[in-house]
Amino acid sequence: MLILGIESSCDETAAAVMADGGRLLSNVVDTQIDIHSRYGGVVPELASRRHLETIHGVVSRALAEAEVDLADLDAIAVTRGPGLVGSLLVGYSFAKAVCQVRKIPCLGVDHLAGHLLSVFLAGEKPEFPYAALAVSGGHSSLYRVEDFDRFLVLGRTRDDAAGEAFDKVAKLLELGYPGGPVISRLAATGNPGAIAFPRAWLDQESLDFSFSGLKTAVMNHVHRARQQGEPLLVADICASFQEAVVEVLVEKTFRAALNENLATVAVVGGVAANGRLREKMVQRGLETDIRVCLPPPEFCTDNAAMIALAGYHLLRRGQAGDALDADVYSRSPWPLRPPSGAAAAGALS
Ligand code: KG4
Ligand code: ZN
Repeated sequence: MLILGIESSCDETAAAVMADGGRLLSNVVDTQIDIHSRYGGVVPELASRRHLETIHGVVSRALAEAEVDLADLDAIAVTRGPGLVGSLLVGYSFAKAVCQVRKIPCLGVDHLAGHLLSVFLAGEKPEFPYAALAVSGGHSSLYRVEDFDRFLVLGRTRDDAAGEAFDKVAKLLELGYPGGPVISRLAATGNPGAIAFPRAWLDQESLDFSFSGLKTAVMNHVHRARQQGEPLLVADICASFQEAVVEVLVEKTFRAALNENLATVAVVGGVAANGRLREKMVQRGLETDIRVCLPPPEFCTDNAAMIALAGYHLLRRGQAGDALDADVYSRSPWPLRPPSGAAAAGALS
């Protein structure tokens, strides 16, 4: 069973070929960082245009590296949402057109489902059910993952996503885009206890996140230092900011696992590439005897291998493929878990 995965929801054009739902034959990612870095964030119009220019080349490379031909494919799995609509439409329309010609199913995949399943791509694989923290540029949510197509939202951010907070703080400190990698690099030489930035715990039991207060606290700290002519201790600011984010993410993830009686946690999405977050997650796992599964960094940030994998499981469960007039979507359609704890899963459809 050969599946081509395509991802174009934000600022990476990616394609991957996967055999039998596990053997990755190729994994190509074309990043647009050079285009967006001068603006300090993703410019949607530029992103979709760049996807249009590169998608054919990226898919051709993925097929060539896998040494397969379009005619060998059994299906195409493609990100349908959530994400930037213009960018999603490029990948989705491309995939539908190829599938129409080849007469194979076009499986629209949820980007978050891809991230949540990315933990099966390499390393220690979890067993269902598991708690998953999905932290990226657009999402900071906690899930109970019950199966390859059953995801319950346990908590989500009320404002900024964790990656977005990294990006905004980096912009404020004029460190470039994306903020996560550069902040984590600088934080390695700073003191995480230097500045007592706030931790937003929200209510006692809440599994929701909020990062806008932290972002404002960093902003106030920087403005005050600049006004008073004090030197900006950038490494200390980065380390203290990162520590505040990591502490809340770790605490709430394990709170979710304990509340839900889950023996495993997974951490996925671009921010899961963060060294300090990985280290703290592993440490807490050892303390609590809860298994921690972390995909290798290349599968944390956006990629098409995770989309191919999620598509494989849709196909295996009998999904026929999307209609030619099916549309993309910008926001996650998954419901929050009802407070009663009754089952109302946000299944993919
Ligand atoms: O999953 P992803 O590639 O794209 C989205 O689906 O949003 O995540 C991108 C986000 C960016 O906000 C980036 O700053 C953040 O992940 N990121 C990191 C690190 N690497 C990427 N954040 C913290 N530490 C990192 N090492
Ligand atoms: Zn993503």
